[in-house]
Amino acid sequence: MKTLNEIITRVQADLRKKEIARIANWEDFSQMNLRRYCEVLGTFAVQAVAACGKNVVEIGTDYGLGAYAMGWALRGLPNIKVLTFDNRLESTMLALKRGADLEMPNIKYIHGTSATLHKEGDRFSLVYIDGDHSLDGCLADLRNVSPLVDTHGLILCHDYSWLEVDPRGNGVRQAIGLFLEERQEWAGMFLNGFAILGRKLK
Ligand SMILES: C[S@@+](CC[C@H](N)C(=O)[O-])C[C@H]1O[C@@H](n2cnc3c(N)ncnc32)[C@H](O)[C@@H]1O
Repeated sequence: MKTLNEIITRVQADLRKKEIARIANWEDFSQMNLRRYCEVLGTFAVQAVAACGKNVVEIGTDYGLGAYAMGWALRGLPNIKVLTFDNRLESTMLALKRGADLEMPNIKYIHGTSATLHKEGDRFSLVYIDGDHSLDGCLADLRNVSPLVDTHGLILCHDYSWLEVDPRGNGVRQAIGLFLEERQEWAGMFLNGFAILGRKLK
């Protein structure tokens, strides 16, 4: 397997090739910021797997950086897999090809959504949600995945601090608020734009 810096450099190059006209602020995609993103995901994936011993999941593959970060952090655990879902076949196929180039055998790429997660069997140590950022989409993901998260497992959501005024229409913060009101057994904390949700201790 490559180093984390090599993985980031490859994703960054592909991002730049495809998105250069669309993304205004390349600072967001600097090596340092991407590395911080990977470190948050990798650290929580390792902690959740240490607590639960089960596979981890990403909803929203796209460039695959989240999946690669968790796969890289869990590389010493041959029985643990990262399952990553995207509803766009193109994203799934590109991430799969890039993952093969990066020699990451512990990732499974699935063309689908959180609605089909239950078909993968068992429960999961951690589910990372970074797919449909609308209020309804994110709330549906939370409702679909929460029963499949192990008792001591975690849900992570990206872009919690992307505000509702964003022209692309981000409802992540609202969706998490509604989910926590509706499922009183879950608690949330917020770190560097991520929301981290776990079940309250009894
Ligand atoms: C912000 S990108 C994900 C970035 C990715 N986590 C990474 O680290 O590279 C969002 C992705 O979610 C996908 N998506 C949107 N709605 C979805 C849904 N309901 N289920 C699964 N994937 C979805 C989009 O096709 C897009 O590729």
